[in-house]
Amino acid sequence: MIAAVQHFRHSVNNMTQELLFSGVKPTNNLHIGNYIGALKQWTEIQHRYRCFFCIVDLHAITVPQAPKKLHESTLTVAATYLAVGIDPNRCRIFIQSEVPQHTELGWILGTMTKMAELERMTQFKDKSKKRGEPVGAGLFTYPLLMAADILLYDTTVVPVGDDQVQHLELTRMLARRFNTQFGETFTVPQTLIQKVGARIMALNNPTIKMSKSASSTANYIALTDEPNVIRKKIMRAMTDSGNEIHYDIEKYPAISNLLTIFHHATGRTIKDIEKEFAGKGYGDLKKALAEAVITMLEPIQKRIHYYLDDTGELMRILNRGRDEAIGLAETKMKTVLERTGLGRQSN
Ligand code: TYM
Repeated sequence: MIAAVQHFRHSVNNMTQELLFSGVKPTNNLHIGNYIGALKQWTEIQHRYRCFFCIVDLHAITVPQAPKKLHESTLTVAATYLAVGIDPNRCRIFIQSEVPQHTELGWILGTMTKMAELERMTQFKDKSKKRGEPVGAGLFTYPLLMAADILLYDTTVVPVGDDQVQHLELTRMLARRFNTQFGETFTVPQTLIQKVGARIMALNNPTIKMSKSASSTANYIALTDEPNVIRKKIMRAMTDSGNEIHYDIEKYPAISNLLTIFHHATGRTIKDIEKEFAGKGYGDLKKALAEAVITMLEPIQKRIHYYLDDTGELMRILNRGRDEAIGLAETKMKTVLERTGLGRQSN
């Protein structure tokens, strides 16, 4: 269930013509944080919008990627979109680098953005600190490309996990800035985040978020982890001191995280789960949670294999997505070039 909607002014019913855009970077393994914070949310609301789901491979290369592995990850992410239940008859799935207008608009937006506005981005600050070496300019300008992804399509809603909210704020600001300077051109998008599950924390450290780029695989459960690996990771997950099974992020961050995952894996309310485990130990909760996560992931894993074993269907879906995306992106870029005075005047 989509529990919370940030900046969300409209009623979400009967909005079939509004456009939803979101994406995932094809880096390393997608994990249950990506699924709960983003992909699961997409499947729940896909029928309300015209949807574009992008595999943002140009974002992936902001940190070094092995070319062959990047090709593979790109297809795996596309297969994962379908495997979690994105309906290719309703939604378009495409690869960012196959639509050149993303980088074109990203450049133009960069000319309208102050260095300080990018320096403020906490994700850039965190990532550059973590790498401990000189960081690429791409990591710095990353939010401009993300803004371009969204603004090219007159996107009205962007469902994401809460680590992307600041990038969305920048996107909204750039849309307004462009519209003020050059005339109404871009739709100002709304950010959609869930009340419970917008930030799934690392299993081995509940003070940091679950992350694909974590140094230890104990941080996350990958969508492709085998049952025994899932059991091991959950049984070893950090717990709080004490033995209370109660949802309270401040007091019991580790158990609250496990309860959140449990809630999303089963669809049961947190209250209901707390009731079942009242008076029981953390071990009991973890055992049941591991089985719930295995049950949640099993059909997804089967379908990922299905789409990757014979990629014919996947290729057709990606071609269709690319062609439709290019159609919209070209039209928008024509307007942008005209308004900004780039190239020759059309009349
Ligand atoms: P990425 O690939 O890091 O993550 C994909 C989605 O998963 C969400 N997410 C999480 N949600 C809850 N808990 C977590 N621990 C967690 N980790 C990740 C992210 O918030 C995201 O929704 N910049 C984006 C990709 C992007 C994009 C876009 C998204 C590029 N262009 C346009 C939306 C619209 C990113 O790096 O996501």
